[in-house]
Amino acid sequence: MSGPAGGEPAVPAAVVVRGILRWWAGARQERDRLPWRRTRDPWEVLVAETMLAQTQVGRVGSRYEELLDRFPTPAALACSPVGDVVRAWSGLGYNRRAVLLHSAACALVERHQGVVPRELHELLALPGVGPYTARAVQAIAFGARVGVVDTNVGRVLARAVAGRALRAREAQRLADGLVPDGSARDWAVALMDFGALVCRARRPGCAGCPLGTACAWRCAGAGGADPAIGSSAVTRPQGRFAGSDREGRGRLVRAACAGPVGGDELARAAGWPEDPGRALAVARALVADAVLVETPDGSFALP
Ligand code: ADE
Repeated sequence: MSGPAGGEPAVPAAVVVRGILRWWAGARQERDRLPWRRTRDPWEVLVAETMLAQTQVGRVGSRYEELLDRFPTPAALACSPVGDVVRAWSGLGYNRRAVLLHSAACALVERHQGVVPRELHELLALPGVGPYTARAVQAIAFGARVGVVDTNVGRVLARAVAGRALRAREAQRLADGLVPDGSARDWAVALMDFGALVCRARRPGCAGCPLGTACAWRCAGAGGADPAIGSSAVTRPQGRFAGSDREGRGRLVRAACAGPVGGDELARAAGWPEDPGRALAVARALVADAVLVETPDGSFALP
């Protein structure tokens, strides 16, 4: 399916914005119960977005509040051992984010008096903070008029607005141009929710979609290839978790939370008793990511 060049919307953007906001007015009550929707505190927003960037809403759940109870400010997190943050993160996956969040908290204390800055370049300079997280903090905490492009939003932009796959700059430009006056925060979460609940990656809810023929993909005729495939920010479906290295990494980190794991215990702790070589490789990868440390006696422990 071809679409307009230069990031120009294929359908009037205002129609899409109106349709999504109208839909969200009915859907938001349920979503507003999510704990991270109740705050505009920039640190709390940064923590939420770091968690939500690679973990599903249902899995983040109460872990968000637990982590903030423990580390209510950047200073509280910065002065805790990295191992405590990894422990608090365990089970959320991609544990490297815990290490990066610790580094970001240290940078906030060192460079910004323990306060989350509002400027894009300052946010992007924090360890682990990429274009999505930086703009999510700007829009949600500070109400800045910036487009927030995560995988859900990237999908909606490609399908409903452009009708074709987008490059990164185009997607960002398009997203920035859609933000309605005076409601940057609501718009950011409305668009994320629309992607998560209606314009889903698999089995998109086109039949009941409130955009109807205002969707560029639908407008171009049913049955065309999905414009979101290969479009900027749109992640590919992950492979199976069961049996993956990610599963072994999670098991090793959980085991290390209870105490150092000896070299001869690694394979069982990783869930691969028959494959000590794979367990060692995964443990060393965790060391390279600074999630674990290897002790002189060959054990693996939280930093
Ligand atoms: N609310 C605020 N940010 C969010 C996100 N990244 N995912 C889901 N809901 C959110």
